[in-house]
Amino acid sequence: MFYTKNGNKIVFKKYLSPKNIKIELDKYIIGQYQTKKIISVAVYNHYKRLYIMNKNNIYLEKSNILLIGPTGSGKTLIVKSLAKIVNVPILIVDATSFTEAGYVGEDVESIIQKLLHECNYDVELTEKSIVYIDEIDKISKKNDFYSGKDVSGEGVQQSMLKLIEGVTLNISPLIEKRTSQQQTYFLINTLNILFIAGGAFSGIEIFINSRINKEISFLNKNNNEKNLLMNIINDDLINFGIIPEFLGRLPIITVFKELNIYELLHILLKTKNSLIKQFCYLFIIENVDIKFSINSIKEISKIAIKKNIGARGLKSILENILLDILYIFPSKKNLKMIIIYKNVIIMKKKPILIYK
Ligand SMILES: Nc1ncnc2c1ncn2[C@@H]1O[C@H](COP(=O)(O)OP(=O)(O)OP(=O)(O)O)[C@@H](O)[C@H]1O
Ligand SMILES: [Mg+2]
Repeated sequence: MFYTKNGNKIVFKKYLSPKNIKIELDKYIIGQYQTKKIISVAVYNHYKRLYIMNKNNIYLEKSNILLIGPTGSGKTLIVKSLAKIVNVPILIVDATSFTEAGYVGEDVESIIQKLLHECNYDVELTEKSIVYIDEIDKISKKNDFYSGKDVSGEGVQQSMLKLIEGVTLNISPLIEKRTSQQQTYFLINTLNILFIAGGAFSGIEIFINSRINKEISFLNKNNNEKNLLMNIINDDLINFGIIPEFLGRLPIITVFKELNIYELLHILLKTKNSLIKQFCYLFIIENVDIKFSINSIKEISKIAIKKNIGARGLKSILENILLDILYIFPSKKNLKMIIIYKNVIIMKKKPILIYK
C-alpha cells in the first residue's frame, strides 16, 4: 500500500531534486550513470508535471521511458530502488502475464486495477503513479504460423497503447466490497501515469549488427560486440518485434551497460546489503569470521563475466564456491576464521582455517 505506517496518504509536497534522487540510487545501483541520471530527471519532471500543470495553461506531456540492457545489469533493481526512494507509488508488473482482452489470461486493464488497489482506492494517488512493465521484450511480435493471431505479443502491445498514452477507464475493485449491495466502479484517467518499460532484448544485437554492416563501409567496421547495444535505434527495436506505435509512446530510451569486473567487485562488496556482507553474516552469527582476499573477489567477478549473466550470477557462483565450507563449518569446533584466497576460487583449493 502506498500509505505511511500510521495510515496517512503519501505526501507529495517534499520531493527530491534529480541530483538527490541519483545520490540515493547510487547506494543501490553500481555503474549505469547515464541511466541513473535519465531516471532521476524523468521522475523529478513527473513530480513537476503533477504540481505545476494545473497552475498554468501549458500542458507538460509525460515522457515514458524504455530501459534496455543485458540480463543482470540492474533494470529491475533500479525501479525497485526508486520505489524505496521517491514519494510516488510505483507498481511493478510483468508483461508476460498479459494477453489481449477477451483471451485467457490477464488483460492490461488489470494493471490499473492493481494500482488502484495498492493506492487504497484513492483515485488521485492512482492517477499520479508510476507503472513499471518488466520483461517488455517478451511481448514482441511473433509470427505464429499456426494460430495466425498473436494474442500475447502484438495483441498485448496494441492493447497497451491507449493505456500508456492516456485513457479513462472504468475500474472495478480488485476485491469486491461485500458489504455494499452495488458494485462500485472507479473512473481512472491514465494520462498522468508515468510508464516505464524494461527488457533485456536478448538477440537484438543481430539486428543492430546487420544494420550497421549495411550502413558503414567495410574499412570502417569496428563493431565491438559488447557495445553493440549502445548503438540501438528504433528500427532495431521494430525489427525485434516492438510495434512502432508502442515505441512512439516511450520517447526516452536508455541502455544499460554490461557490468565490468570492477563494477561487479563493487556490487559484491559495497552495495547496501551486498552479497559478501550477507555471507559474512551467515558465519558471524555462529561466531566465525570469514575473510575474502581482494583477488578472490576479482576471480568471482571474472566468472560472472564469462557466464554472461551480469550481477545476476554472483550469488550462485558464491554459493557454489562456499558449499563445502557451509556444509562443514557448523560442525567444526573452535573454528575462529576462514580465509578465502584466489586459488580457492580458480583451483578449488581448500580455504585457510584458523582455530581458537
Ligand atoms: N548495477 C547494479 N548494481 C548493483 N547490483 C546489481 C546491478 N545490476 C544487477 N545487480 C544485482 O543483480 C540482481 C539482478 O539484477 P536485476 O534484477 O536488476 O537484473 P535485470 O537487468 O532486470 O535482468 P533481467 O533482464 O534478467 O531481468 C539484483 O538483484 C542485484 O543484486
Ligand atoms: Mg529484470
